[in-house]
Amino acid sequence: MKLYQAVYTQLEPEDIVSLESFEIASALKFETNDKGVPFGIVDNDDCQAKFSLLGGHVCDYTPRGSEPLLFVSDSSNYALGKAIRGGIPVCFPWFGPAKDADGQTDETKPAHGIVRTQLWELLATNHTNAGTEVSLAFQHADFRVTNTVRFGNTLNLDFTIENLQDSEQRFELALHTYFSVGDATQIEIRGLEHTPFLDQLTGETHQGSGLPIRFSEETDRIYQGVVEAVKLHDPTKNRSTSVRSSGSGSTVIWNPWIAKSKRMADFGDTEYPRMVCIETANIGENSINLTAGESHTTEVSISTCEL
Ligand code: BG6
Repeated sequence: MKLYQAVYTQLEPEDIVSLESFEIASALKFETNDKGVPFGIVDNDDCQAKFSLLGGHVCDYTPRGSEPLLFVSDSSNYALGKAIRGGIPVCFPWFGPAKDADGQTDETKPAHGIVRTQLWELLATNHTNAGTEVSLAFQHADFRVTNTVRFGNTLNLDFTIENLQDSEQRFELALHTYFSVGDATQIEIRGLEHTPFLDQLTGETHQGSGLPIRFSEETDRIYQGVVEAVKLHDPTKNRSTSVRSSGSGSTVIWNPWIAKSKRMADFGDTEYPRMVCIETANIGENSINLTAGESHTTEVSISTCEL
């Protein structure tokens, strides 16, 4: 199979093909930044978008006639070994801090897993009436993950995990989507009213409040339960964005607010009112248990319309 790897490749030279050979006239081209990070630039009839081989990451997505749907910090890194602060980072094979066999935090390992800071392979690109599709993959001794993204009038991600070990393994995952909003104090998140959640700030669990989520302080919650659609109601931008998923049992809602924003080096102190994260996830009790050779797909479809 032909595939692209920029550096540290273990492939034979004849297996490495240039990114240009994956370009699609009038839909997709590639560029590499001054730190050696490759990006795909999508410009088709339905949308403009950008993705990166760093982290198998969707950076930007703007459907025609709309403003950008995703938020990326002006302070974000775009360098090998660092996560991009915004867009859709892939958190895998664990969410949050790494835990050791006794469930204690393992400070020697990075938060949110190992794949968001690594270069992925580009497997394939394609263009149809439904949009421009790219398939990105990352392989480790224990697993192989593939993120197949379709940039059309909706943004679709199919994220597949394969267990490469000869024994059962449990994986956590979050497609950590940062949405761009007009004013976080004015938005509402709807669809999680009756879903129980863990408040990560207090460690307490709560039943659904029956009300949409509104923001007036740091918010960091893991909702546990299958939810087909979560809606982001944004009166300032006059739009409603829907996040539909399958194969996902958890949803994370996050806004760092004031103090945490100041603690994050790659996030502006005053950017928090312009974003909210709605993360399609499989965490804790809803993590994914795979027998040897088994695979699992989590799908998310993001679309927007005017209010
Ligand atoms: C969210 C977590 O998913 O990601 C938060 O719920 C965390 O607790 C946030 O602060 C950002 O994490 P990181 O590792 O990208 O700074």
